[in-house]
Amino acid sequence: MGLNASVLVIMGSTRSGRVCPMIAEWILRLARERADFHYELIDLADWRLPLDDEPAIPATGRYAQEHTRAWSEKINSAQAVVFVTPQYNWGYPAALKNAIDHLHREWRDKPAVIITYGGHGGTKCSEQLKQVAEAVKLRLVSIRPALVLPEAVIREGLALDPHRDFSDHVASVHSAFAELADVLN
Ligand SMILES: Cc1cc2nc3c(=O)[nH]c(=O)nc-3n(C[C@H](O)[C@H](O)[C@H](O)COP(=O)(O)O)c2cc1C
Repeated sequence: MGLNASVLVIMGSTRSGRVCPMIAEWILRLARERADFHYELIDLADWRLPLDDEPAIPATGRYAQEHTRAWSEKINSAQAVVFVTPQYNWGYPAALKNAIDHLHREWRDKPAVIITYGGHGGTKCSEQLKQVAEAVKLRLVSIRPALVLPEAVIREGLALDPHRDFSDHVASVHSAFAELADVLN
């Protein structure tokens, strides 16, 4: 599969004023240093996936809605996924759960990385996401980077500078993508 592998970097936050895109871009830069795949950033805000318009359960693979079929094709087209998500009230955002729950077989056996952020790195939502990822049979790499957001960024809206603020986490992000490369190559 090697260098042609397509890797989707799925952002967990759809909130206005979110820091997720800045963090995802920073992660993409580090990823490209470790593993030369074709990366695509996925903004769930661009994917309108209503909660309540599929009559069959996703495990049947019978999708009534065009947007679900498009989402299915997008995930099927990739060889791996990377979740970049904030922690919200110890969990991960509803938009991300909804995007995962829209599909089923598409996730099976796909290598995956979980990267979280929050005041303590988002470790609680990382655990939750790991459990759900295991339910849909994603193949998680063992390293789950947990990026610590400065208190002033969360509480006072100070601008985040990933290069400066996450310097302690470069090694773990590199390691996670090195693991992913081992699985995909
Ligand atoms: C609804 C909500 C719940 C939050 N809960 C937590 C939390 O449990 N732990 C934490 O460290 N930060 C929490 N935060 C702060 C987020 O880490 C911070 O706002 C971060 O910027 C969110 O990512 P985003 O800007 O990409 O959406 C919460 C933020 C929101 C909006």
